[in-house]
Amino acid sequence: MQDGGQQVPNAEEQTEEAEPIKQRKNGLYPGVSDELAASMQSGWADTELHDLQPIPQAGHTADRRAALSARFPGERLVIPAGKLKVRSNDTDYPFRASVEYAYLTGDQTQDGVLVLEPTEDGHEATIYLLPRSDRENGEFWLDGQGELWVGRRHSLDEARQLLGLPAKDVRKLPEELREATGPVRVVRGHDAGIESALTDKVTAERDEELRVYLSEARLLKDAFEVGELQKAVDSTTRGFEDVVKVLDKAQATSERYIEGTFFLRARVEGNDIGYGSICAAGPHACTLHWVRNDGPVRAGDLLLLDAGVETHSLYTADVTRTLPVDGTYTALQRKIYDAVYEAQEAGIAAVRPGAKYRDFHEAAQRVLATRLVEWGLVEGPVDRVLELGLQRRWTLHGTGHMLGMDVHDCAVARTETYAGGTLEPGMCLTVEPGLYFQADDLTVPEEYRGIGVRIEDDILVTEDGNRNLSAALPRSSTEVEAWMARLKS
Ligand code: GLY
Ligand code: MN
Ligand code: MN
Repeated sequence: MQDGGQQVPNAEEQTEEAEPIKQRKNGLYPGVSDELAASMQSGWADTELHDLQPIPQAGHTADRRAALSARFPGERLVIPAGKLKVRSNDTDYPFRASVEYAYLTGDQTQDGVLVLEPTEDGHEATIYLLPRSDRENGEFWLDGQGELWVGRRHSLDEARQLLGLPAKDVRKLPEELREATGPVRVVRGHDAGIESALTDKVTAERDEELRVYLSEARLLKDAFEVGELQKAVDSTTRGFEDVVKVLDKAQATSERYIEGTFFLRARVEGNDIGYGSICAAGPHACTLHWVRNDGPVRAGDLLLLDAGVETHSLYTADVTRTLPVDGTYTALQRKIYDAVYEAQEAGIAAVRPGAKYRDFHEAAQRVLATRLVEWGLVEGPVDRVLELGLQRRWTLHGTGHMLGMDVHDCAVARTETYAGGTLEPGMCLTVEPGLYFQADDLTVPEEYRGIGVRIEDDILVTEDGNRNLSAALPRSSTEVEAWMARLKS
């Protein structure tokens, strides 16, 4: 459905004072009679909401802004949510706010911008948002982004109550930024209009420091974030159970049945899936990012399902199980699966405060290299294999990554704080070793070809070790078989 076929300026172009619809009618609103325009201007109830409670993370977002303020004293900081992106013609992709903005405000509305303005003793934070659609000038029913088309949004005062931040009209922000003096940084890549208002005032290098800071701040999850990650994992567990229950329907159709089944759970319980679900049956398991999901699901094959529910607050799980489609692993599938399980156990055991980030990867790789040598697929000794990285022909990827609002969270953190750093309580990461024997790999016996196995869990570093947030999903081959039998009975 289109937006009534009217050509109206978007909110950005509108002036501060709403222009009456009757004046705009000429050429801009063809087909709108004076009588209809007048009718649409009035007769609407006052729906302003009062006494709203702050969102649950409001205290945490305030703490995060305080830490940001302390890191960049005396500087204006601009963090946009981003804009809608066109999918095709007049349809857009579902909006997802930038993680930097959502992390610092708890808000997720398009076009929003958080500004921290320096003061004598810190910063004053203000959120800039689109206000309610104007009814006097017809915006609310004639503009494609008017509330009549896309739904009610919060008034600025409602936003203030919910977010614990003063809220102003974002349409005035570019002008304010152009006039502002003093040092400024902006998180780039989300809002070209805001960036262009700042173009003479910012440098790429200084802006990148802001982005890196916000990526590193997210290395340690606070209590709210841990709770959300657990929610994401719990929904994901239910989504995996849903999939096991419909494997017969997937066999009658395709991998898409699995994708759709998991997506239903994600949309009903959360915001979305946190990344494209990998529903890889048979040899597709060897394609690391198999998201076409259009292949057959056959008894006797494995299904590698890598999927995660994203919560309403945008935290995602990232879990993989490799399941026998008919409920029982063959002897060779089990041998490979058990080796990956053993590697994962070694990896998880290496996750504890004070350990080097790389330790869990190295522990898992050693197990896999040992098994590959034992099976005669690569010539030992194991230390030589590891030194030369020869096992990587079949292990392919790193053993994990930070997890949070992005599935590969904290992606622009510096090496010394992430890959070259040390684990601390509050970090959350995946441990996900795998073995993949490509269908055309002539260096392994034929029966190995087309088998791919990954097991992935979401692990929180605690004061005394770690906690597996996804422990409710069985991992060992015998537990997986028993769990599948139970769900299918
Ligand atoms: N699902 C992507 C990953 O496991 O990293
Ligand atoms: Mn992962
Ligand atoms: Mn994954």
